[in-house]
Formats: sequence, structure tokens, C-alpha cells
Amino acid sequence: MTSHFDNAPREPIRFAYWVPNVSGGLVISKIPQRTGWDAEYNRKLAQIAEEAGFDYGLTQIRFTAGYGAEYQHESVAFSHALLAATTRLKVIAALLPGPWHPTLAAKQIATISQLTEGRIAVNIVSGWFSGEFRAIGEPWLDHDERYRRSEEFIRSLRGIWTQDNFTFRGDFYRYSDYTLKPKPAQPLPEIFQGGSSRAARDMAARVSDWYFTNGGTPETIRAQVDDIRAKSAETGNHPRIGVNAFVIARDSEAEARAVLQEIIDHADPDAVKAFGHEVKNAGKASPEGEGNWAKSSFEDLVQYNDGFKTNLIGTPDQIAERILALKDAGADLALLAFLHFQEDVAYFGAHVIPRVRALEAARDRRAEAA
Ligand SMILES: Cc1cc2nc3c(=O)[nH]c(=O)nc-3n(C[C@H](O)[C@H](O)[C@H](O)COP(=O)(O)O)c2cc1C
Repeated sequence: MTSHFDNAPREPIRFAYWVPNVSGGLVISKIPQRTGWDAEYNRKLAQIAEEAGFDYGLTQIRFTAGYGAEYQHESVAFSHALLAATTRLKVIAALLPGPWHPTLAAKQIATISQLTEGRIAVNIVSGWFSGEFRAIGEPWLDHDERYRRSEEFIRSLRGIWTQDNFTFRGDFYRYSDYTLKPKPAQPLPEIFQGGSSRAARDMAARVSDWYFTNGGTPETIRAQVDDIRAKSAETGNHPRIGVNAFVIARDSEAEARAVLQEIIDHADPDAVKAFGHEVKNAGKASPEGEGNWAKSSFEDLVQYNDGFKTNLIGTPDQIAERILALKDAGADLALLAFLHFQEDVAYFGAHVIPRVRALEAARDRRAEAA
């Protein structure tokens, strides 16, 4: 039997973009950004992205200001607004176990799924920002406890969405003969997860449809893919892989590199250091000391999710080649952030996606001939 995972390298790689629903863009830098966080900017961006060939938009959940993100729109409500403004794009709403309870989340998302013919998906984030939890009076669990709770959250969501008389006895959530009506539209909302530590990877191999990881080189992505594949062979669940990247695509490599330098030169050092300190609550706080941000330098931390490490910085040809290398390493999706979202997403759609598709087609022809 083949799974979607076995076939993945032959499927076109998918593209998602970070929805800038929090202020300040996706870099901790004072460089001027032509990116808005408001509804009007984002509706237009979603339409541009859909037209450009993007499959998904990913919203963020943030309850308090965090290192530049002074204003934050809530992710589920915002996702619905973007779905209402588009016709094909899928929108991934971020959910944070703790503030969210699976009962409410399952019902909210089922309704949005019904309203949008199944274009809503969810990203279960396990959290890194203890100060935020303190501010809203939520208990802050240890690293691996957060993932135990997230796994129960995902099992609860899936159980509620797929079963009548759902019964579940967890340490965090309990259900007795619960039947949700109506259930979500088909296809069921896909379940993504953010996080890359040992606990995150084990959770992915057990319950997630998609595993999102911070930026990295093809080698570091391959190591995570191999690790998950080994676990998946035991569990029978084969998550697809999404990799974060910050894209700077310009007509010349020198131009693109100059933009990167300018972003780093304008970094807000105190905010970057404070963010670096806080995220050590994530990957580095895991028992094995791996995971997101465990090995990030000051420059890496200027982009929230290590997106410079993926090196999608250069000409459209260079970027397309590097996306194919990521795909060879096992990536099924590239999750992308930009400096000036509307114009950069349009440029990416016009100049990079067609090159990626041409390279994929050439590769498929070679594979068929072989
Ligand atoms: C693609 C992606 C999206 C994320 N989105 C959010 C978010 O919206 N809000 C949030 O608090 N954390 C978010 N996170 C952080 C994760 O919840 C998690 O805390 C972090 O990746 C650390 O994981 P680790 O401890 O397994 O290394 C995201 C992470 C990734 C990779």
C-alpha cells in the first residue's frame, strides 16, 4: 500500500504564506515594510496569493504584544474573513491549547468549514511565550506537558469531527457520548502542527496531518523527515512536511542580499534578544535540547521562525532550484514570509512558482523515462 507520503515527491510542492494578522510583519526589524496587519490589506493579499498560485494562508495566534507584534487580530475570526474574500484559498487558523478548549474549537471550525465548503484548516501550536500565558492567567506547562496536552487536543478534535457518541478519557480533556452536529464539511479540516522538538516530532508521527518546522537547510530538514518517517513506520500515520522560509526574490542576487543585510542592520537588538530569551522556553527547554530555535544566532532570530536559514534569497532561478532541493529533502509545502507582502507575493507568483513547476515537470519527465 502506498500512502500520500510515499507519493509526495511527485506531487507539486504546495505554497502557503504567513498571514500578517499581527503588526510589524515577520521580521523583528525597524526596516520600513509595506505590509499591513489590518483586514483590508489582508483581504487584498489573500486574493493576490490565490491568484499567484498559493494553496494556503496561515494565520498567527498572539494574545499580547510580543517583540514587535503590538497589535494582533484573533486567528479564527480573521481566517473566516479571508475565506469570505476568496474562493479557492485554504486558510489555516492557529489554535493554542490552553486558551482554546477542543469543544469550542471543534464547533467553531466545523461551522466555518460548513460556511466555506471545507476551506478551513487548523494549526495546533503548543506555545513558547510564557509571559503571554501569565498575562492572560493561563497555567504554563513544562515543554513536554504542553505537547501531551496538544496531542489530546488533536485526538479530541478528530474524534469530535469523525465520530458520533465520542468518548475520550484523557488527562486534560474528557468526553462522554458527545455527538457534534453538523460535523465539518468534507474534506475534513486538515490538522497542522507547529513545533520541531522530539516531543513535537513524536506527536506528528502519531496524530498530525502536517508537520510545520522552522527554516533550515535541506540537510537539517532531511534529518527531521527521516526521523518522522522512522516513527511513522510504527504508527501508520504519515504527516506531510511544511518548511518555513523568508523569501527575498529580486532580479539580481546582489539586490536580494542587500535587502537581507538591510533587514538585519535595522534589527531591534533588545527585542531580538528578548525574543531569543523567551523562545528558549521552546526547543531548547525540551529534554533533548533540540527543536525550534535551539541553535539560532542573533541574525537568525530577526526572522521569527528561522526563515533566513532556508536561504530562499536570490534570483527567481536560484530560489526555484532551492525549493526543489527542499522537496528532495522531503518537504511537501513551503511556508513563506515576505517583507512587502502584497507586492512580493505577486512577484513570487509571477516569477518563482512557474519556474518551480517547470523544474518539477522536467523532473517528472526524467523519472518517467528512467
Ligand atoms: C509554522 C509555525 C507556526 C507557528 N505559529 C504560532 C502561533 O501562531 N502562535 C504561537 O504562539 N506559536 C506559534 N508557533 C510556535 C509553536 O507553537 C512552538 O511553540 C514552537 O515552534 C516551538 O516548538 P518546539 O518546542 O517543538 O521546538 C508556530 C510554529 C511554527 C513552526
